[in-house]
Order: sequence, then C-alpha cells, then structure tokens
Amino acid sequence: MDKRGKKYFLKEEKEFQSDLGIIDEKQIKDSSVGDTLITHLNHEFKVIKPNINDFIDLMDRRCSILVKKDIGSVLAHTGLGSGNNVVDAGTGAGAIALNFANVVGSKGMVYSYEIREDFAEIAKKNIETFGLNNIIIKNKDIKEGINEKNIDLIFLDLPKPYEIFEDVYESLNLGAWLVVYAPYIDQAELAFRVAKKLHFQNIDIIEVLERGIEVKTQGTRPKTRMIGHTGYLFFARKL
Ligand SMILES: C[S@@+](CC[C@H](N)C(=O)[O-])C[C@H]1O[C@@H](n2cnc3c(N)ncnc32)[C@H](O)[C@@H]1O
Repeated sequence: MDKRGKKYFLKEEKEFQSDLGIIDEKQIKDSSVGDTLITHLNHEFKVIKPNINDFIDLMDRRCSILVKKDIGSVLAHTGLGSGNNVVDAGTGAGAIALNFANVVGSKGMVYSYEIREDFAEIAKKNIETFGLNNIIIKNKDIKEGINEKNIDLIFLDLPKPYEIFEDVYESLNLGAWLVVYAPYIDQAELAFRVAKKLHFQNIDIIEVLERGIEVKTQGTRPKTRMIGHTGYLFFARKL
C-alpha cells in the first residue's frame, strides 16, 4: 500500500512499477509483511497481508459487485454467525459469497449458484486465491431448484427473484432469512407482495445511504460527491 492508501496486489515477485517509481525485484523477493519498500523516487510502500476487503477491492471481477455498505447491512440485519449455512445467487465475482464464508467460518458452508460458466470460473479462482475452503460454487441456474436444506440465509441478487420464493421457503430453517438485493424498486415491491402471500414475516425493504465526511483546514463537512444509488435490500423471515 502506498502513502495515499492505494493498494496493489503482486501476483509475481517481479520488479514493480507505479507512478511513484520502481521497486526492484530484490527488495520484493526479500520482503515480508510489515516491511517498508522504497521506490527509486524515494516513495515508501508498506507490505501488508490483505484482509477480505483489500482482496475484494483488487480481485478479478468482470461484473458489478456488491459494495460494503450493502454487504454490511445484510450481515448485521440477519445476524449471520459462525456455523451457519448460506445459499447465495448469483455469485458474480464472489464478493458477498466471500464475506458470507468469512463470517460463517470453518463450521459453516456457503453454496453459491452462478448461471454463467465464465463468472463461476472467475469466482472459483478468486476464492482459491484468497484461501477459503467453505464455499462451493455451483455453475447452475438456481431457478432449476435449490438442492440444499436447513439453510440459515438465502441471498438472491438476480432478476425476478420472487419466482423462486416457494423453493426458498422450503430450504430455510425456521427463523432463517431470505434477503434480496434489487437495483429497481418495483422488483423489491413485487418481492414484498409475493413474500407476504407465502407467509414470510418481518418483511422490510431498506436503502442504505452512506455519506463520507471530509476534514479540511477550513472545516469539516460532508463530501460533495456520494454514491447516489446501488440497490434496495429486501428482508423476510421464515417464522
Ligand atoms: C450483479 S451479479 C452478482 C454480484 C454478486 N452477488 C456480488 O456479491 O458481487 C448477478 C449475477 O447473477 C447471475 N445470475 C443471473 N440469473 C441467475 C440464475 N437464475 N441463477 C444463477 N445465477 C444467475 C449473473 O450471471 C450474474 O453473474
């Protein structure tokens, strides 16, 4: 990581180049976590062990990924914990699947469905590189059926999620959560109406807005720019 907080993921122990200068191969080869590396222009870089967010920020992704404010809200709202089992669809590059696996730990399991073979392969590679072994990526259309039972959370980020709510209901444990991420409000509203008919309870739709604050010499105030919209989060519980 450089002094500006910019992160880089080195896949090979080769000479490293950036706008702050070059770090030679020897420094990189001899380095370990905690070291400071110096470029030929005298800029410092810190060697850190990537945590899950560092990794997700830099991993291979060829589709849009869920952002931290939404992922955090899903984890907090559902109270996901160690040993829980999760079904996730679609995987995309695996951002929320990685977070689920990180939280459920080695006693839990994440089954993540992805209809596209190319995305399933990217996600598998990302998971292997990060080093988690409690995620199973299934290159399968989840609308053909959910094979897993006794699930504590089913998370759907795909078009027309309400088409499989009956199937979802069957796979969930009592007290478990269904969560939908919907970019459009009409999708969230339809989800609400279908879930109500199927006797899901504790139904909620939320939108998470995050505003950064900047501290300057003149004063402290919200940043001018913010992310206007990502998606709506729909929550429903089987009770
Ligand atoms: C926006 S991306 C998912 C992002 C991901 N949830 C994350 O954590 O960043 C939506 C994915 O859903 C997949 N998808 C769409 N319909 C699907 C289905 N019926 N079954 C499985 N995957 C599906 C798409 O191929 C795409 O990769």
